[in-house]
Amino acid sequence: MKLDGKVAIVTGGGSGIGRASALEMARQGAQVVVADINAERGQAVADEIGAEGGKALFLPVDTASYEQVEGLVQETVHRLGQLDIMFNNAGIGGMQVSVLDMPVEEYHRVLSVDQHGVFYGIKAAGQAMNDRGGVIINTASVYGFIADRRQFPYHAAKGAVVMMTKAAALELAPFNIRVVCIAPGLINTHIVDGWRDNEKIWTAAQNAQMRRRIGEPEEVGKVVAFLASDDASFLNGHAYFVDDGAASFKR
Ligand SMILES: NC(=O)c1ccc[n+]([C@@H]2O[C@H](COP(=O)([O-])OP(=O)(O)OC[C@H]3O[C@@H](n4cnc5c(N)ncnc54)[C@H](O)[C@@H]3O)[C@@H](O)[C@H]2O)c1
Repeated sequence: MKLDGKVAIVTGGGSGIGRASALEMARQGAQVVVADINAERGQAVADEIGAEGGKALFLPVDTASYEQVEGLVQETVHRLGQLDIMFNNAGIGGMQVSVLDMPVEEYHRVLSVDQHGVFYGIKAAGQAMNDRGGVIINTASVYGFIADRRQFPYHAAKGAVVMMTKAAALELAPFNIRVVCIAPGLINTHIVDGWRDNEKIWTAAQNAQMRRRIGEPEEVGKVVAFLASDDASFLNGHAYFVDDGAASFKR
């Protein structure tokens, strides 16, 4: 029970990596606020945690809105008394077309969630944690480090998450707030549903990991719970790859 007595918010907690991380942090003793734009999925995960004997509640949020992210943090502190762990994880994949054909609105749509939503979470949570310390974990991607085709806005956002993590860690260090990010490889969640129907794309995606398999969300959730715990007390300002070596070799 490494997170006993801690309060955690997980954005995008209704599915995939967020769901697995919320479940794992609750198993480690944290009270978890499952925050998601999809109320049905978010409430289901909060119920799942409750059924396991953990403590969780669902709060709706669109992380593309600063007012909503700030409201989420304030509501959490109001109801649970504190905030110790902020997992800025909500994200979308976006349209897959060449940068030359990328609609400008689509670029802004992806950045509004995948980049700006993370900034909003850092700012709001940092203010709430200010006088007692805490941990902020952001979800980047191997695509924050290596380029692929037809994912330009996603690359822009995830690269920004890596640098926002470093800059925020430096600025929040005086308040004893650690800021780290994870960089997952291909993980078995809804975000990659669109790739599964095309055998060529799906095989190539799996082969991008050293052991040629997709990762399971639970394999990421366990890392997130570790990063949130005091066992990771000297980990700060870096990205941690959860990718079976995907970013370490030439395909
Ligand atoms: N699955 C992968 O292969 C992979 C790899 C690298 C990084 N990631 C990142 O992991 C994070 C989680 O994605 P996932 O793979 O679990 O996908 P997912 O689609 O299963 O889960 C994403 C969740 O975020 C929620 N969400 C989307 N937009 C939101 C918004 N504006 N406000 C609040 N909630 C919102 C969705 O409702 C969903 O519950 C994302 O940031 C994604 O970019 C995923």
